[in-house]
Amino acid sequence: MRKLVRNKRAVKQSTKKAANRAVKQPMEQAMRVEKRKVLLHVNREEHELLIYPHRTLAEVLRNELQLTGTKQSCSEGACGTCTILLDGIPVRSCLLLAADAEGKEITTIEGLAQNGKLHPIQEAFVDHYAIQCGFCTPGMILTAKALLDKNPHPTEEEIRNAISGNICRCTGYAKIVEAIKAASEMAR
Ligand code: FES
Ligand code: FES
Repeated sequence: MRKLVRNKRAVKQSTKKAANRAVKQPMEQAMRVEKRKVLLHVNREEHELLIYPHRTLAEVLRNELQLTGTKQSCSEGACGTCTILLDGIPVRSCLLLAADAEGKEITTIEGLAQNGKLHPIQEAFVDHYAIQCGFCTPGMILTAKALLDKNPHPTEEEIRNAISGNICRCTGYAKIVEAIKAASEMAR
């Protein structure tokens, strides 16, 4: 009887080992993927990087270029915290492969201030107490920039529509809308 129990335990252990091997294999295969050279144009500067082809732009901005103003939260395109501008269009960088951003102009929140001076939208966010947390704000500001570049004097409805993909989990959007309106007034 004792022998039978021991045999059962041995079978269980070898099955577990085989299962572990099966789980590990795709990971090992992934490790064999070769890095490739990618040229990214970020905030008016060129960066030549050696990266794995499956790295997202959010990962590369944060981990390779230390541009940590781009936040990553849901990693599945639902929250908008990772928003950057790609040729002026707001894009979720958690859904975009860094390699696919080659040849495009990438703007992150770090690229808005110039010569030590905040961008007018950033100033409006500060003045109107719209910076409620550091997590949603970068994406919110970049979305606002794309909106105002295209439509310098949007209605409140157009502002709310534009930022509808940028989720704030903690409070209302009133101050944010107010700040974007104020930034659009500044441009008049
Ligand atoms: S982290 Fe990209 S949309 Fe949420
Ligand atoms: S203020 Fe950033 S998530 Fe609400």
